Amino acid sequence: MASAPLKLSIALTYALLLSSSCHGLEVGYYKKSCPRVEAIVRDEVKKFVYKNANIGAVLSQLLRPGILRGFEVIDVAKDAVEKACPGVVSCADIVAFAGRDAAYFLSRLTVKINMPAGRRDGRISNFTEALANLPPPFFNITQLIASFAAKGLDTEDMVVLSGAHTIGVSHCSSFVSDRLAVPSDINAALANILRRQCPANPTPANDPTVNQDVVTPNALGNQYYKNVLAHKVLFTSDAALLTTPATTQMVLDNANIRGLWEEKFKKSMVKMDAIKVKTGYQGEIRRNCRVVNRS
Ligand code: HEM
Ligand SMILES: *[C@@H]1O[C@H](CO)[C@@H](O)[C@H](O)[C@H]1NC(C)=O
Ligand SMILES: *[C@@H]1O[C@H](CO)[C@@H](O)[C@H](O)[C@H]1NC(C)=O
Repeated sequence: MASAPLKLSIALTYALLLSSSCHGLEVGYYKKSCPRVEAIVRDEVKKFVYKNANIGAVLSQLLRPGILRGFEVIDVAKDAVEKACPGVVSCADIVAFAGRDAAYFLSRLTVKINMPAGRRDGRISNFTEALANLPPPFFNITQLIASFAAKGLDTEDMVVLSGAHTIGVSHCSSFVSDRLAVPSDINAALANILRRQCPANPTPANDPTVNQDVVTPNALGNQYYKNVLAHKVLFTSDAALLTTPATTQMVLDNANIRGLWEEKFKKSMVKMDAIKVKTGYQGEIRRNCRVVNRS
């Protein structure tokens, strides 16, 4: 039997290990320094929800990793936060809060995430690098698993996070060549609809967008997994989830067990939003989220 002090020190070490393994981010990080920050960000995201007829198209951009668009919301939220607590809250945390809030509104208030915070902003801002971090839509299951594993996300995180493809849009160029131009397992009726919406050879000048989810385009929920099973998904990477027994079972569970996907999605979002974050004395608190501070 371990003595009480030993047990305590084991518990403390374990707590430290746990906190360092999630990079020292914590829920309620701004409790003292900027107590209203999460409410402020949520209100700004909410204003966008009611201002825009097509809320899916706007908020989906906040959910997409490596956010490059959707920045209007971030700018407005940052301004509001700076008024309340100047120089305190990082843009990285505002982006994480706004993505969490987008998930909340798009899921009709069912996906409620306690988002840990304490991120710092990078001192470099590299568009090419942000794009290179996203896996391409033609990846097969082996490549998808490997690209998520390289970031510390497991196969289940990959399957669960792919559920975000139940909202938002895609450019035709992301799927025409490997899903419509050649034989694929895509549902024939959906393929016909997509062929009417997309040119046979999309170019940058002619590359329309289509809804990712034909059934519930603006709702975040487990409909994605039903679409995967019905072969009504756009990307090779979506269809790839049915190419191994393990991922197929995850798709079935997420489609069939009520509430399961929502619970898993919350955990995987927190995990994803903790990847490669800067904390402590690293980086800076940006004044303008689009550019690094001048030193
Ligand atoms: C599994 C690997 C993934 C691949 C291959 C992938 C690929 C893509 C592609 C190609 C698009 C359409 C881009 C365009 O043509 O405009 C897209 C859109 C989107 N993705 Fe993913 N993605 C993946 C994972 C994720 C994850 C992890 C999330 C978030 C949790 C996510 C959320 C979204 C959202 C919300 C959109 C719609 C954006 C909009 O409406 O503008 N995706 N994804
Ligand atoms: C941005 O990142 C890419 C890929 O890592 C690199 O080749 C490029 O030099 C970087 N650009 C700047 C301005 O740092
Ligand atoms: C996935 O693609 C890679 C690279 O093209 C290939 O080596 C591998 O065999 C493919 N795996 C599957 C399961 O199709």
